[in-house]
Amino acid sequence: MNPSRIPSRVKLVEVGPRDGLQNEKQPVPAAVKIELVHRLQAAGLTEIEVTSFVSPKWVPQMADAAIVMAGVQRQSGVRYSVLTPNLQGFEAAVKTQPDEIVVFGAASEAFSQKNINCSIAESIARFQPVVQAALAQGLAVRGAISCAVGCPYEGDIAPERVAMVARLMHGIGVQHVGVADTIGVGTPLKVQRALEAALTVYGINQISGHFHDTYGMALANTLASLQMGVWQFDTSVAGLGGCPYAKGATGNVATEDVVYLLHGMGIETGINLDKLVDAGAFISDFLQRKPNSRAATALLNKRAQP
Ligand code: HMG
Ligand code: MG
Repeated sequence: MNPSRIPSRVKLVEVGPRDGLQNEKQPVPAAVKIELVHRLQAAGLTEIEVTSFVSPKWVPQMADAAIVMAGVQRQSGVRYSVLTPNLQGFEAAVKTQPDEIVVFGAASEAFSQKNINCSIAESIARFQPVVQAALAQGLAVRGAISCAVGCPYEGDIAPERVAMVARLMHGIGVQHVGVADTIGVGTPLKVQRALEAALTVYGINQISGHFHDTYGMALANTLASLQMGVWQFDTSVAGLGGCPYAKGATGNVATEDVVYLLHGMGIETGINLDKLVDAGAFISDFLQRKPNSRAATALLNKRAQP
């Protein structure tokens, strides 16, 4: 471990309302999504990925994107991001005044086809006018690189594929890339190689980790990323999440678990863990299950003790 590289502060992008709720079978009313966002910002999350402006035929769970964005009472100091796969999505999104948009591509051709119905090259051509329009309007632009470690259709993904997509995204003006282990198959060294590949194109301040926890490796992968100096991560309250086009993949690493890890290492997040646990309990109660977070479970059990 190189302790000098471990950051003293970490920025978490809460993706539960988007990555989490896009994957729920039961309908979640817009009012519940809005309440979740309110509780997350009350817990100190300053970056919230709220929703996606995608085809409602592909992802019906996100069909209420504009309603949710309109219903959120914005808090100063909080940035709200949304996913926009194409100009149609961008035009709908921009009316709702997000602070940041996210284009999402993949390091796997097969996943790109399944998820957004086009090849990697076509996806970059689609993103290009979106990125241009967003930058022209002063919006920040993030790119997600799915299947950066493994793909449900192609298996292992070479780091060179991640570097290639990072280069393509950089070439069209994407300011920041998220290296995503979509199906949670990564282990620390593989994840470090994927991050190193992105770092051949982007600086350390322009990359983040997005780790699903299917095999229980996401916290280990987060620690491995911290050791490289990576200080930005997408996480999901109560471990919600998954992608409808990555069957079998489970949720993102739970925000509660990452906050517990970071605070225990003396790393600042600005997040109040107790309030975060409340936010996770709120959405888990609605979904009629327990939070998928070890730290939240432990803290809820502790609270229940006489
Ligand atoms: P397509 O069918 O190729 O699009 O889908 P199209 O341009 O041919 O249009 C077909 C129909 O979709 C038309 O409607 C369009 O109006 C409509 P029709 O004439 O048939 O009634 N349409 C739209 N409607 C609303 N908003 C839009 C939009 N675009 C077209 N933006 C498309 C292409 C990209 C739209 C589709 O494949 C899609 O929506 N995919 C989204 C899939 C998705 O949301 N996946 C989950 C998010 S990514 C993720 O979770 C991974 C991440 O977490 C990182 C990680 O973990 O890896 C980010
Ligand atoms: Mg994801």
